[in-house]
Amino acid sequence: MIIRKGPAEIDRIGRAGALVGETIAHVGQRIEPGVTTLELDRIADEFIRARGGVPTSQGYKGYPRAICISVDDVVVHGIPDETGVEDGSLVTIDVGVTLDGAIADSAYTFAVGAIDAESQRLLDVCQEALAAGIGEARLGNRIGDISHAVQVVVEGAGFSVVKSLVGHGVGRHYHEDPHVPNFGDAGRGPRLSEGMTIAIEPMITMGRPEVWLAEDGWTIATSDGSLAAHFEHTVAILPDGPRILTPRLGVPDLSRMGTP
Ligand code: MF3
Ligand code: CO
Repeated sequence: MIIRKGPAEIDRIGRAGALVGETIAHVGQRIEPGVTTLELDRIADEFIRARGGVPTSQGYKGYPRAICISVDDVVVHGIPDETGVEDGSLVTIDVGVTLDGAIADSAYTFAVGAIDAESQRLLDVCQEALAAGIGEARLGNRIGDISHAVQVVVEGAGFSVVKSLVGHGVGRHYHEDPHVPNFGDAGRGPRLSEGMTIAIEPMITMGRPEVWLAEDGWTIATSDGSLAAHFEHTVAILPDGPRILTPRLGVPDLSRMGTP
């Protein structure tokens, strides 16, 4: 069942989303060679709680940390630990915040120091794919329009979309209907209607699209070991177009191009 939200609830999701964006930017400033992902998790946890929020991932289906941090070939749900971040790595910070009963979700892949040109292209394409998906998040369109737009950008650039992981409705619960795949046919799937709030989140790889689940039950990495990128925004479907509820001020955000 898709839960459509009214203006007041969307504003509350937007307040949670503002804190999500601030958290991502704050953690991003602290990413440098040597910092452990567990330290970054503590920084996020404190930052969120000091502002009255709760990290939604903590305890979600037994997840043990405040946020997910996925390095290099890890696509999603990396568990922060004592591993130090290394120069040249890709580090995805994926944050959910519950604030005043509302939930927002966003992710951003940071480059640590200097990365090679192909890695940078992977990040740029993933942001471009998110922007394309958001651009289709309009009344009257269908979920498949978003999915298809993401897929065209990613595969057109020679990269792969992960098929076994999807975006999702969000707001009242962390994961609501509908699924928002990153591939598919335009014109198919649920119609987008006013008040829907969805997390659009291309998860892409430099190589093959297959992924595997590690023994910890969470970490999902590319099967071929190739690098992955993940950018995500929570977006509301409104009469005047998509409204990004998780703006990330202070980090370069190609995915906001062309949105109010
Ligand atoms: N933000 C993540 C997503 O959209 C949620 C991870 S659930 C967790 O899939 F429990 F792993 F945190
Ligand atoms: Co999500």
